[in-house]
Amino acid sequence: MAFKLLLLLTFLAWDRARALSLHQRDVPAVVKLPITRRAYNPTRLEKRTSNVSTSFDVPYPYFDALIYSNLAIGTPPQTILFEVDTSSGYLETTATNSTWCTFSNCSSEFFNVNASSTYKFANGNFNATYTWNDVYAGDFGNEVVFVDGVTLDVDLAVNYGPEPNSILGLGYIPGKTSDTPATILQTLVNSGHIKSAAYSLWMDGSTQTDTGTDSELEGVILFGGVDTAKYNGDLHTMSIPASNGIHYLPVVLVTEVTLQNGTSSSQTSGLPAYMALDSIVSMTFLPNNVVEGLYQDLNVWWDSGSQVGIIDCALKQKDYNITFTFIDFSITSPLSDFIGLGSGEICEFHIVPSFSEASVLGATFMRSAYVVYDLSNNEISMAQANFDESEGQVLEIGSGASSISGIFETAIAVATVPTAVVSPTGNWVFPVESTSSASTFATSTSTGVAAAPTANSNSVMVGLAGVGLLIAL
Ligand SMILES: *[C@@H]1O[C@H](CO)[C@@H](O)[C@H](O)[C@H]1NC(C)=O
Ligand SMILES: *[C@@H]1O[C@H](CO)[C@@H](O)[C@H](O)[C@H]1NC(C)=O
Ligand SMILES: *[C@@H]1O[C@H](CO)[C@@H](O)[C@H](O)[C@H]1NC(C)=O
Ligand SMILES: *[C@@H]1O[C@H](CO)[C@@H](O)[C@H](O)[C@H]1NC(C)=O
Ligand SMILES: *[C@@H]1O[C@H](CO)[C@@H](O)[C@H](O)[C@H]1NC(C)=O
Ligand SMILES: *[C@@H]1O[C@H](CO)[C@@H](O)[C@H](O)[C@H]1NC(C)=O
Ligand SMILES: *[C@@H]1O[C@H](CO)[C@@H](O)[C@H](O)[C@H]1NC(C)=O
Repeated sequence: MAFKLLLLLTFLAWDRARALSLHQRDVPAVVKLPITRRAYNPTRLEKRTSNVSTSFDVPYPYFDALIYSNLAIGTPPQTILFEVDTSSGYLETTATNSTWCTFSNCSSEFFNVNASSTYKFANGNFNATYTWNDVYAGDFGNEVVFVDGVTLDVDLAVNYGPEPNSILGLGYIPGKTSDTPATILQTLVNSGHIKSAAYSLWMDGSTQTDTGTDSELEGVILFGGVDTAKYNGDLHTMSIPASNGIHYLPVVLVTEVTLQNGTSSSQTSGLPAYMALDSIVSMTFLPNNVVEGLYQDLNVWWDSGSQVGIIDCALKQKDYNITFTFIDFSITSPLSDFIGLGSGEICEFHIVPSFSEASVLGATFMRSAYVVYDLSNNEISMAQANFDESEGQVLEIGSGASSISGIFETAIAVATVPTAVVSPTGNWVFPVESTSSASTFATSTSTGVAAAPTANSNSVMVGLAGVGLLIAL
């Protein structure tokens, strides 16, 4: 099949040096994977409360906004539900004879190794600690996976341990050696299905019936391509910084966070900061000073027990926005996207302090952004998501390296590049507890927030199950 190159489009970044190389082709080399952003699978939630080494009792609302995708793996194909993780690199699935499954009914959604004639064991070295200290351990093997009509021979990590999730890792594997398995992204490149280890991720806001973190949204991961109908304006490209030469997380530099409600209130204290653009974290974790400013403006009360903000539900209906600025461009999200389910006037607010840990723009934020993760060039490109049905075209991301000028790194001094997203430990007392309307919420909590997570670290751990890869190999 001949691919005809019609046009080379280059979107220039602010410093006129960084760019994605996009190509219009008759048949672009792209692979499309449908995704869904929705509340944590209630079936799994039930399983979560079952009798494993630690018992969890966390209500539904807490499990908002993780991004899922089904993949068929093995022969005959088994359909497994994966959590999409932009921050880790393994394609990991939990086996039907895992420690988890010895306590739970795992007849479906888990991988039965023996039932697949194409699974090939490689070694028993899989042992990865994800954030919240969830350890996934077992074997590395090879298996066939079916994506968008394409059959791939992939490296698969099989978990036989006590953690239940299957994770579609689309990020880095830090500290790679020659026996480190190939990521699915690399496999797509090596097999010629895409030209560059890059993908777009977007949510389709038009199917949304309600706003808020509890609403279900469809979306797409487009491996190797960009769909110009799905964003407004230009894509802005930023380099992903390395720490001691190693790339850990897809992080971007946030310079300002602004609340807009007719007047603007801008938070810059604690900024600029690198933040992980992480699909497997549902909430948005911002630097403490930024959160404190937002909480004061919005009369949010910090519930240190459940580790979430508590906000007046009426604000869900108001025309308030939060704008995140990345040096020279911004992404605007409706405030309602960060307001979870609640009871009466009491709702959970899902922008929370990151304490001493890395800040994270999670799956909630990602509804408003069209994001291109370009791991070949260690760059992220972003634009405001476009939910209107509009004309556009799918462009192929080319294999060329783009030049990085270094202006980005020298223009703004930022102390550290996060190497891992980890959970705040202990029962933090966040400062904002004393404004008058906040105490109104405080007194109503005993009934109103009965549905909120209980005060233990497990609730936090489970709520953000699997978050980002902390240590690999
Ligand atoms: C949990 O397991 C223990 C020991 O296996 C058993 O005694 C107990 O009844 C179980 N609890 C529940 C809630 O199933
Ligand atoms: C599960 O099955 C695999 C493949 O047969 C085996 O290697 C592994 O030891 C089993 N794990 C457990 C916990 O039984
Ligand atoms: C596969 O079979 C082996 C031995 O026949 C057994 O030990 C293992 O638990 C089985 N694995 C699964 C996933 O059923
Ligand atoms: C296990 O789950 C399957 C499918 O979800 C169901 O058909 C089966 O009845 C369940 N078994 C038990 C013992 O709960
Ligand atoms: C995995 O690694 C952790 C940390 O090094 C270790 O504590 C744990 O025992 C290992 N688990 C397995 C199953 O090898
Ligand atoms: C919030 O953003 C929407 C969409 O961009 C815009 O229509 C609206 O005017 C904004 N509201 C405020 C208060 O800035
Ligand atoms: C916007 O927020 C500020 C700070 O909380 C508040 O004083 C003001 O009344 C709000 N404006 C509107 C239109 O709600």
